[in-house]
Amino acid sequence: MLKPLALLLALAAPVYAQVRVVSPDGRNRVSVEIQQGRLYYSVQRDGRPLLLPSLLGFEFRGAPPLRDSLRLVDTSRTTFDEAWTQPWGEVRRVQDHHNELKVAVTETAPPARQFTVVFRVFNDGVGFRYEFPDQPNLKDFAVTDELTEFSMADDARAWWIPSNRPRLDRSEMLYSSSPVSVIDSIQTPLTMETRDGKTFVVIHEANLVDYARMFLSGPRMQSRTLRAALAPYADGTKVYGRTPFVTPWRTIQIADRATDLSPSLLGLKLNPPSVIPNTSWIKPMKYVGIWWGMHINTMTWSSGPKHGATTANTKRYIDFAAANGLGGVLVEGWNVGWDGDWIQNRNAFSFTRAYPDYDLAEVARYAHAKGVKLIVHNETSGGLENYERQIDSAYTLYQSLGLDAIKSGYVTDLVGEGHSHYGQYMVRHHRLVIEKAAQHGIMLDVHEPIHDTGERRTYPNMMSREGARGQEYNAWSSEGGNPPEHETILFFTRLLAGPMDFTPGIFDILIERGTGRPRRPDESRVRTTLAKQLALYVVLYSPLQMAADLPENYEHQPAFQFIRDVAVDWDTTRVLEGKIGDYVVVARRERNGSNWFIGAITDEEARTFDIPLSFLTPGRRYTAEIYADGPKANWLTNPLPVTISRRPVTAATRLHLALAAGGGTAIRIRRVD
Ligand code: NOJ
Ligand code: CA
Repeated sequence: MLKPLALLLALAAPVYAQVRVVSPDGRNRVSVEIQQGRLYYSVQRDGRPLLLPSLLGFEFRGAPPLRDSLRLVDTSRTTFDEAWTQPWGEVRRVQDHHNELKVAVTETAPPARQFTVVFRVFNDGVGFRYEFPDQPNLKDFAVTDELTEFSMADDARAWWIPSNRPRLDRSEMLYSSSPVSVIDSIQTPLTMETRDGKTFVVIHEANLVDYARMFLSGPRMQSRTLRAALAPYADGTKVYGRTPFVTPWRTIQIADRATDLSPSLLGLKLNPPSVIPNTSWIKPMKYVGIWWGMHINTMTWSSGPKHGATTANTKRYIDFAAANGLGGVLVEGWNVGWDGDWIQNRNAFSFTRAYPDYDLAEVARYAHAKGVKLIVHNETSGGLENYERQIDSAYTLYQSLGLDAIKSGYVTDLVGEGHSHYGQYMVRHHRLVIEKAAQHGIMLDVHEPIHDTGERRTYPNMMSREGARGQEYNAWSSEGGNPPEHETILFFTRLLAGPMDFTPGIFDILIERGTGRPRRPDESRVRTTLAKQLALYVVLYSPLQMAADLPENYEHQPAFQFIRDVAVDWDTTRVLEGKIGDYVVVARRERNGSNWFIGAITDEEARTFDIPLSFLTPGRRYTAEIYADGPKANWLTNPLPVTISRRPVTAATRLHLALAAGGGTAIRIRRVD
């Protein structure tokens, strides 16, 4: 005789028809169900569909797809609520409060494989991943396709860069915007705004450890379903694995306003805690570098009369950094291998041997004596094997010289035998580098990286990366430079993945003084005002923040004081105003201090803002040091004027900001009592 409860459950069978889990605030709901043997999930926000039923599953080489004849066998739930302090970041504390649902399924027919999908539902979004337990009929496997879908209920507007070009330019493309129904193949993070303007959704991934990077392949017209598209090996395989195995998290960040998207902490919550016990050596800093000169052609990476990385030149940069309180000096082109076509000659790079005019040990000694860190450049040109062969000896050398920061580079489209720059082959390489760097006490700034999936939580030495079109394009791009709206898009797209080494701070906007000749009209230039260059230090977060221009271009420039003063590590971040592609106003309070900084930037439109300073501590007095676009400033015709003013402010003050076309405002608010 069945007990009443068991009877009820038996009658309600299939009891697992649809299982649900909601966010702690009840606003986000995930439903999971089987329809005709296939597993789907959907997402609702405030009771309205955001993602319609979206397929889950896989295709394998030499085995049937894991997709059909599925049956739910078990569900389990937990709640988690815990906070942690970041060693550095856009905010000091992160709260991870979520409800978790695990859904275990099995094939009802042979080979009767099993897997579990784990959903974590937060107030700021959803993460889910697949877990494959060890099992007789799923041991070693080769994924040929991940079938995960994101079926948008609304034909939302999306901001995207493509993923289906023969050359992907290492994610260094300009953004486009279109309804989701017409996008083709794109990279994540993919930011979308529903047509009613009421919901913002960002699809990305977290904790990419031993898998391929996820792109999204677009819906064929009339549909709004995006599908996971994994970056391949040369033979088309996406992922090699062996059970037990877990995939990265697929993340769906959800917000009511664009200004609520940043800082994006969802991905950090889906990465394991730090494995580096003592992080005291990991320090955010500003840096200058022997760098811009190569991009504007006044210096070379290669040896010869214009070689930038000489001992004498490096000492000059070290002196400049020390005199201005900047923490580091990057030196590119110091090591043997840059002569000739350095992209083709990827295997010629030595990571220990310097050019004869660069005395590495002496420069390291000099930097140390001046309290400046030397940032070692390791351009691999994608020669991973060449780099991995040398990594132990190189990192041992750097460590012995007290060098604890590396900027690496992967200027290439394919790696190894023709594998994607974004595939599992490359993901494994990056993980090896992060681990080796951690072992040798080295901080990393990776250029041409794979997108950030929150690695910095587990490895706080993984500090910054490029992975988007940065300042360098203003030196040489064929389009004439980044358009004025560029950074107002980056803030709501690329920067949601994590910090970006954009390299702000070019003062020689027309790139004339540096080159000693007037710029031709067809040449690239910086397409912002000078004040906007300052504002980027606050807007575009990076724990390694470059003062990118030549030191001589900062001399006798009163506006340079802002770069000296601006913090690089934050306690609190507030996005005060923002519209994707139009403008951003951000306020951040420095870590371990009471000063605030504001960065405001606009696209090609001039704009004004009234900013209440209610975030300041009531009853305290402050001085605002304001670096604003000067009279008649305009990015195109008159980019240089900056007006610097000071005024007393309190929590009751409203600041009126006037930004020129392509302009910005940068403010330090210093507490005076
Ligand atoms: C591209 C990087 O983005 C840039 O910063 C670097 O100078 C060159 N590669 C050379 O490594
Ligand atoms: Ca680059």
